Amino acid sequence: MTRIEHVHARQVLDSRGKPTVEVEVTCAGRHVGRAIVPSGASTGQFEACELRDGDANHYDGAGVLRAVSNVTDEIASAVLGLDAVDQKTFDRRLCELDGTPNKSRLGANAILGVSLETAYAGASAVGIPLVEHLHTLWRRCRRTRAAATGAKSGPVTIGRTAGLGRDMLLPLPMVNMISGGLHAGRNLDVQDILILPVGAESYSQALEWIVRVYRRLGRLLTDAGCEGYLIGDEGGFGPKLTDNEQALQFVVRAIEAAGLRPGDDVALGLDVASTHFFRDGKYHLTRNSLSPSAGGSSLSAAEMVDLLEQWCDRYPLISIEDGVADDDWNGWKLLTEKLGRRVQLIGDDLFVTNRERLQRGVDTGVANSVLIKVNQIGTLWETLETLALAIDAGYWPVVSARSGETEDATIADLVVATGAGQIKVGSIARSERLAKYNQLLRLEEQLADRAGYLGGRIFRQANLKSQISNPQ
Ligand code: PGA
Ligand code: ZN
Repeated sequence: MTRIEHVHARQVLDSRGKPTVEVEVTCAGRHVGRAIVPSGASTGQFEACELRDGDANHYDGAGVLRAVSNVTDEIASAVLGLDAVDQKTFDRRLCELDGTPNKSRLGANAILGVSLETAYAGASAVGIPLVEHLHTLWRRCRRTRAAATGAKSGPVTIGRTAGLGRDMLLPLPMVNMISGGLHAGRNLDVQDILILPVGAESYSQALEWIVRVYRRLGRLLTDAGCEGYLIGDEGGFGPKLTDNEQALQFVVRAIEAAGLRPGDDVALGLDVASTHFFRDGKYHLTRNSLSPSAGGSSLSAAEMVDLLEQWCDRYPLISIEDGVADDDWNGWKLLTEKLGRRVQLIGDDLFVTNRERLQRGVDTGVANSVLIKVNQIGTLWETLETLALAIDAGYWPVVSARSGETEDATIADLVVATGAGQIKVGSIARSERLAKYNQLLRLEEQLADRAGYLGGRIFRQANLKSQISNPQ
């Protein structure tokens, strides 16, 4: 047993210059690294609540000094002496201490910082790298769930389901090329146009392809008189295009210009983030000129789904996130019926990494994948529990960063340790993004044969009749 001896926190800044919480823990007389909490811009209404000071004279109200003092006062006194290795008990203590369903009393930002940092303390206590410790926690979480649900066959892992014989996986990166929505001044309705290098044979090859496509895209945009250098919050280009569909066309051309095959080598993905243009039961698009047949710019859920289906017919799209809004369950049902056998449909604002909301989706046949963001739920153990539910239900998860990020790369270790198979951390510009991509390069080297790589084959396992005819 390794007891937490001291907990310290401070206010630092994230990639948008917004304050956030950094936590350091002392265990066995040593500091054990630090964890920094990320923050969203297109946040879902059902997310755990981050505490901001609201003092207009300090960072325009966005300060987190109250969250910091919640860590150093109330949380620190409650967790001193707890075992850093027992993440489950530790995180349960944090949730009980807060006492609200959405962590609004102490702040999800305060709680998550301590929870993540405890994983570093646990790894240090056992004397193993973070990824190995997270893998141990993951196996423990799977066993606990299997025992609770009476599963006879034991826990499923994506790597073994795919016949890879490995539980840890380097992820397929899903990478933002063009940013819109709230991440780029609403230049487009769709928040992210992403690429998935499904034909790459390794994580490092995937990364090289991504950089190649990104550079070609910048040149193509500049040659066309668009902004091929201004970038959004997640490092994707932020051109002012006339239509959402034009963005898809540019990315397809960039894939071709990189000497790669759209679809077979590099497929497309969208994060529509449609909750943010959904009002009064309609989807209000402002950049929809190329698709007048879809019903103009204010679309019903059925028309929105039709529009997405048309895009799937015209472009090699394999993944769509938040195609309809977070409380439009009927729209989600329709979307899943129309596209769920052909495209990965990820619930982000819909599920907010919350086990109860994901269970509702599974029970009602809504979506077929889930985005996993640690700060949406607020503790590491709850994140693992949501991941476990997702994998048992065949909802292959995508571990994701936020638009407000830092040098903290914990989620790179998390995605490998849990074998989740896919990661989304933004583009390959800006160091808060590269911190994760580079950590994955290190893990690829350090783990060698201990971790597998499924890449685009993960979509076969997800039973999608995808448009990719021959993923490697
Ligand atoms: P956010 O964006 O971090 O601003 O919520 C990321 C996403 O929507 O996936
Ligand atoms: Zn999203």
